[in-house]
Amino acid sequence: MYRTHTCGELRLHHIDQTVTLAGWVQKVRNLGAMTFIDIRDRYGITQLVADEHCSDELKQTANSLGREFVIQATGKVVERSSKNNKIPTGEIEISLSALKILNAAQTPPFTIEDNSDGGDDLRMRYRYLDLRRNPLKNALILRHRLAQNVRQFLDGEGFLEIETPCLIKSTPEGARDFVVPSRMNPGEFYALPQSPQQFKQLLMVAGYDRYFQIVRCFRDEDLRADRQPEFTQIDCEMSFVEQNDVLEVFERMAKHLFRETLGVEFDGSFPRMPWSEAMARYGSDKPDIRFGMEFNDLSDETRGHGFGVFDTAEYVGAIVAGGCASYTRKQIDELTEFVKRPQVGAKGLVWIRLDADGNIKSSIDKFFTPDTLLSWAEKCGAKAGDLIFIMAGERMKTLSAMNELRLELGNRLGLRDKKKFAPLWVVDFPLLEWDEETKRYYAMHHPFTSPKPEDIPLFDTDPGKIRANAYDFVVNGVEIGGGSIRIFDSALQHKMFETLGFTPEEAEHQFGFLMNAFRYGAPPHGGIAFGFDRLCSLFGGADSIRDYIAFPKNNAGRDVMADAPSSISPSQLEELGLEIRKTEK
Ligand code: AMO
Repeated sequence: MYRTHTCGELRLHHIDQTVTLAGWVQKVRNLGAMTFIDIRDRYGITQLVADEHCSDELKQTANSLGREFVIQATGKVVERSSKNNKIPTGEIEISLSALKILNAAQTPPFTIEDNSDGGDDLRMRYRYLDLRRNPLKNALILRHRLAQNVRQFLDGEGFLEIETPCLIKSTPEGARDFVVPSRMNPGEFYALPQSPQQFKQLLMVAGYDRYFQIVRCFRDEDLRADRQPEFTQIDCEMSFVEQNDVLEVFERMAKHLFRETLGVEFDGSFPRMPWSEAMARYGSDKPDIRFGMEFNDLSDETRGHGFGVFDTAEYVGAIVAGGCASYTRKQIDELTEFVKRPQVGAKGLVWIRLDADGNIKSSIDKFFTPDTLLSWAEKCGAKAGDLIFIMAGERMKTLSAMNELRLELGNRLGLRDKKKFAPLWVVDFPLLEWDEETKRYYAMHHPFTSPKPEDIPLFDTDPGKIRANAYDFVVNGVEIGGGSIRIFDSALQHKMFETLGFTPEEAEHQFGFLMNAFRYGAPPHGGIAFGFDRLCSLFGGADSIRDYIAFPKNNAGRDVMADAPSSISPSQLEELGLEIRKTEK
């Protein structure tokens, strides 16, 4: 037995017991007659002391230790003379009687402390050392806790955890597939699942009416702080349900997770907001409703005064930044630069200031009378001391730019408190999205999403207006989950494929097995998938999902520790029947 206790376990009531601990050397302090060693494991840190009563050999071993050596220490638990109230074991120490080096260690390339001196790249390269640090350890513990709470809840609701394959036929979910060549079928490829979408629907056809899986998904898309090429979903599907049934179960699951993991309770139901309303009020399908600053549509009021920017705009919208009349020219310029960045894409930013005395000043004084500006301010509900920002242009683009401005103002004004959680359901998404470049419709969610029955006639007249039985679960401006009620009628599914521009042959080639299954009695069904990594980072109060994944990829999709992706040997290529085309660098 290597140890009797962990390094986080011993307290005053263990005094006089002889114990053995095993772990890593955090720190050694040699004070001449005495040597203090901090030994660390997953559970905590305990102080060991080698003093004048120890053998010379033990003292020598103690003084030869380096950071991160793996050691085994035996001794008596004694009360400390100077206590450390910063750590749970701070009232005791171990007076050593034996000390053994189990393994020496090279000096780590960065300090294993809460605030490490290692940069991002270095810590990614030595992820196993980074994982020894408390912030990452706590992140993985939170992830584990959440996963247990998910399983506990769903099991209690009668959901079965069923695994689905990783080597599959391509499922289009909007991103590119990662593909895997098949040695046994030269020239053919598996795809890694972007989600288990079709399999979970097949499980419904098979009669497993409540399915879930905490499952790895793979998407070859551009990466961001909340996107990894492989990520985990809590994937769920239910039969004999309507939208309301799905939302009801998963709202209870979300509340269960908040309660059990964080002790956070919510009063009443989560708000449900139609997509069109979310866009009009916040310019986003994932609004952060922790704070107000909703949009005001001034399109009608601003038109016809001879100011070209407003006269030609499809949409003119305003945001009231409460109490910001004192913003300096420099602050306003910074915000103007912010909205002009290519990622935001606005041409400019108009402002109206209502100072504390009720005086009005704006960047468009030349074009509008103070009375006109005041009437706009009134419509927006602005008061003395507020600053109004106005943007104009094509409707969707302007709404999206205003969303960026709103979030930036929210950050600057400290309105996005990470300890506050504001969940909502965004519902009634459009079924289809028109793409100007390829001149065709794409499924906004995926091709199996059901239209609202009352909108089905629009397939023949105005497909862009069809609303879907689709919903997203949004918290604090992050899309945590999304799902839909599915089409279970073959004729409607064919209509959908046709609208998406698939020929019957293409649809058959890509989705034949699902369509075939639907001929054998598909129940009405629907489901949802939560981004598990996003849920963890939301609960942990972090912006990036990376720290909640033990071995993540960097922003270029690389595992810098294992050095993947990498080339494979000519014999492997040969076996797979593949040839690498030389591309000019
Ligand atoms: P969707 O594509 O909306 O739906 O994905 C569900 C949730 O997964 C998370 N997510 C990601 N997290 C990290 N990195 C990524 N690259 C990434 N992509 C998505 C998001 C998202 O809300 N099959 C459907 C679900 C269904 O209809 O039941 C699906 O995959 O939090």
